Amino acid sequence: MNASDRRARLVDDMRAAGAPMSAELAAAFAAVPREAFVPGGFQRHGGGWAGPGDRDFLDLVHRDDVLVTKVDGRMPVSSSSQPSLMAIMLAALDVRPGHRVLEIGAGTGYNAALLSALGATVVSVDVQADVAARASAALSAAGVERVQVQTGDGYAGAPGHRFDRVIVTVGVAGLSPRWLNQLDPGGVAVVPVEHAGTHPVLTVRGPAAGPVTAEVICPSGFMSAAGPLTATHQFAHPAPAAPGELAPLTVTAPARFDPPLGALAYRDLWYAAGVWHRRATHAAVPGAEHSCLVLLAEDRAQGAAIPPDGSVLSTGEPALAQDAADILRRWDAEGRPPMRAWRVTLALAGRSDAPIWVPANWSL
Ligand SMILES: C[S@@+](CC[C@H](N)C(=O)[O-])C[C@H]1O[C@@H](n2cnc3c(N)ncnc32)[C@H](O)[C@@H]1O
Repeated sequence: MNASDRRARLVDDMRAAGAPMSAELAAAFAAVPREAFVPGGFQRHGGGWAGPGDRDFLDLVHRDDVLVTKVDGRMPVSSSSQPSLMAIMLAALDVRPGHRVLEIGAGTGYNAALLSALGATVVSVDVQADVAARASAALSAAGVERVQVQTGDGYAGAPGHRFDRVIVTVGVAGLSPRWLNQLDPGGVAVVPVEHAGTHPVLTVRGPAAGPVTAEVICPSGFMSAAGPLTATHQFAHPAPAAPGELAPLTVTAPARFDPPLGALAYRDLWYAAGVWHRRATHAAVPGAEHSCLVLLAEDRAQGAAIPPDGSVLSTGEPALAQDAADILRRWDAEGRPPMRAWRVTLALAGRSDAPIWVPANWSL
């Protein structure tokens, strides 16, 4: 299969995964060679490294999957994000030819190249100097125009520039007021903002002086940013529990959903739980295939888990098991609202020397 057939198949796979592929987006993904942005290879899911010399390299590059391009010990610290998620975010960004776009998290440079293919002029910032240098080299080698890569903490944005759009491709606890300052009136920022232990993507509007409001777009699995963008704050949920941190659980309420909730509906329930409960996060639960929604006690050993079948498994504090049952009842009573139904109001929080806009109030 030649390169353009592979890209066409990737676009089909992204569409099948639910990405809103406008003609412009499909053309951008069909034009930009993803392999040009991972010349140093990436981590295989089963361990080991896939490099350009490997026979399955191009097959793996054209999967609708994240490619981890840098690890620190076992922790991924840079990657090319999942293409269907990139497409959903680019569609929410509503980028038009001539737009000036600030990207936080240059990573491989692939998303910046797609922005350029959509007609934008891009400043992309990455906190890791080696990552920024590789992105810059890949962009030059691929002949991509109108993209400038800078090294620095994305909190500062790109001083001296004005933008029509901001896209953040790393998980943050909140938005830097500097991004909103550098956005022209009417601009939007698309940002994965921490909520209940994950990073749902928000479309955020508002001047740096506020009011700042947001709509919820989709779930995401972004890695967390470095620096003040991930400061803890008074509205924050607990960090996810590591395997073994939560004590063994017993069933305290039977399954409620038959069949169990699908992946997206489960994220909708999870989002609502984060709105209604300050201790919502997630944890590995024995017997569950994926990490589960959990209400975690202050001691991080007690808690109540809600798996996709809507049962409640708990340990310790009975109040949390009761809260979990109440969340399930309330979510049903509200008509199982999807995460996109929530309207969010943000408040300034975080470090006093580097405040961030964080979700603080929600309405349906
Ligand atoms: C998922 S990758 C970005 C993917 C990228 N847009 C692409 O197309 O390949 C996240 C990147 O965010 C960067 N990052 C983490 N914290 C940051 C911060 N505070 N400021 C700027 N970049 C940051 C990481 O170094 C990493 O390269």
